[in-house]
Amino acid sequence: MMSKEKFYITTPIYYPSDKLHIGHAYCSVMADTVARYKRMQGYDVMFLTGTDEHGQKIEEIAKKNGVTPKEYVDKVVAGIKDLWTLMNVSYDRFIRTTDDYHVKAVQKIFRALYEKGDIYKGEYKGMYCTPCESFWTETQLVDGKCPDCGREVKAASEEAYFFRLSKYQDKILNLLEEHPEFLEPASRRNEMINNFIRPGLEDLCVSRTSFKWGVPVDFDDNHVVYVWVDALSNYITALGYGSDDTSLYEKYWPADIHLVGKEIVRFHTIIWPAMLMALDLPLPKKVLGHGWLNFNGDKMSKSKGNVVDPSILCSRYGVDAIRYFLLRDIPFGSDGNFTNEALINRINSDLANDLGNLVSRTEAMVGKYFGGILPEDREAGDFDEDLIATAVAVRENVEKQMETLQFPNALSEIWKLISRTNKYIDETMPWALAKDESKKARLGAVMHNLCESIRIIASLIAPFLPATAQTIQERFVCDKSLFSYDNAASWGLLPAGTKIKKGGIIFPRLDLAKELEELEKLTKEPEPEKKEIPGIAEMISIDDFGKVDLRVAEIKDCFPVKKSKKLLQITLDDGTGTPRTVASGIAPWYKPDDLIGHKVIVVANLKPAKLCGVESCGMILAADCDENDVKVVFVDGMPNGAKIR
Ligand code: MSP
Repeated sequence: MMSKEKFYITTPIYYPSDKLHIGHAYCSVMADTVARYKRMQGYDVMFLTGTDEHGQKIEEIAKKNGVTPKEYVDKVVAGIKDLWTLMNVSYDRFIRTTDDYHVKAVQKIFRALYEKGDIYKGEYKGMYCTPCESFWTETQLVDGKCPDCGREVKAASEEAYFFRLSKYQDKILNLLEEHPEFLEPASRRNEMINNFIRPGLEDLCVSRTSFKWGVPVDFDDNHVVYVWVDALSNYITALGYGSDDTSLYEKYWPADIHLVGKEIVRFHTIIWPAMLMALDLPLPKKVLGHGWLNFNGDKMSKSKGNVVDPSILCSRYGVDAIRYFLLRDIPFGSDGNFTNEALINRINSDLANDLGNLVSRTEAMVGKYFGGILPEDREAGDFDEDLIATAVAVRENVEKQMETLQFPNALSEIWKLISRTNKYIDETMPWALAKDESKKARLGAVMHNLCESIRIIASLIAPFLPATAQTIQERFVCDKSLFSYDNAASWGLLPAGTKIKKGGIIFPRLDLAKELEELEKLTKEPEPEKKEIPGIAEMISIDDFGKVDLRVAEIKDCFPVKKSKKLLQITLDDGTGTPRTVASGIAPWYKPDDLIGHKVIVVANLKPAKLCGVESCGMILAADCDENDVKVVFVDGMPNGAKIR
């Protein structure tokens, strides 16, 4: 490459609403692999990731946790950064939407669009999905629920600013139709065109007044900027757009690849380009919509309790084993399935058997036959040519696959060389050559060839498995530039005299049954800590309490139940207009006349039960004052039907 060409790749910015799972890691590992691959090819890479920290959901979670939204996100974001460090995600910039420079730039963007007339003030009426922070029209709902997550939506209306998305309908349609390379895979493009654009783009509500945790609209204090406008802007604000220093923006924008999951393709290929068009800015070159990673065939979700924690897996098997699985098993664009069994099998077959064995056997043989030093004397022989031809072709084959981000195929090209090299050992039988002094030079050539092959393998796996590539490279005492993209299609570069150090096993073989058992234990959600207070019943959640419907009710009538010494039959006015009957075991302590006219609290949604022939619909609250005394809780003066909470 003449001068360094730039390459800008982004992941979505993640919601710090929870711990990230293996599905999130999938996205970041793919982006990281591309970034590393491009750096290796000599590009000047900008790899951006970050966190999307505003919105009602975060505000609510923070409240539940008794902290401010900022305190909450600070903690979660630190964990996200730790995960990326653990997984060797080599981002160049990490943007937080709470960063001051981003907030200011978003305000500028919003104002610019307003001044241009592409944002105007109106009133929003629609159906809102709180978890997705999305407003939907009635026609977009699926069975009356959020089309993205399937959860309940609620009618909402507020004064709001709108973005003239409808104005860009034709341009967006044109973008997707005339530039098929803008959105891949093609199936997602068709989905956007047919399901969203052709039915008509409506103006988009881009401000909220119902919560505060967002970027304030600087010319109208009541409003915060819609999270997606805030979030999408990150791709340019991270480069300094809207700040005093726009040098990175000038250098890297437009993005070469926005890598996003399939459910957010809509935002990236309709709203984002329309925003950029309105700002008169260049459009990203490509949006790639990847599929979802499921667990045992099911969508991963916290409520289902099937979320796979990447840090547990990385600490048990090493980060590269997990990266390998993610990149090797899921064709780009399709949904993939994660199972513990598939992971262990992959580690055993591809990493322990194929790659690990090749490296260990070679190191051991160079050690045993040549004291760990590649010899001077070499004699070419059978099988060399085929091995060399396979080896020098891998780089180009990988390149072809990486053009369309077909990671599994790219890895499979490298693994073809690993298999070919293992086969070469069987074919050349170094142990037999070693027995015959006259074959020493042939044995020397075989060792050279094995090491050359490993050099090419270690060079080309670096973007996918950076730690493993590093481990192998460190065992070759030589000029490290031999392990480079430039040298990965050349043969015979390791000089005689190169020392090959013997190291430990790179990927130990795993016992499938034992590992499955261990993983089952490790990934089980820990039982929530039971905080018990002596003498007090087991803890319940606020949701549990919320299920109990307590109402103020007036005692209108009362008399003893014939067959019982304890029960009084009571008629209540609970404000519903229908008299309610309850049987209450308070006869030993109250006469009917003591009760009539008083107001009590009734559990109004208790399932009816028959007590001595009386159908009791509810229960009156009373306190055990001592062993022999019970007192009804009277709430005289409160309106009938008032809800107690
Ligand atoms: N904050 C938005 C993105 C804003 S970008 C301007 C968001 N965040 S997210 O945390 O919910 O998701 C981040 C990425 O993780 C998305 O691309 C999403 O598709 C991806 N994944 C979340 N779960 C996933 C799987 N189970 N499998 C694969 N990717 C998944 O959306």
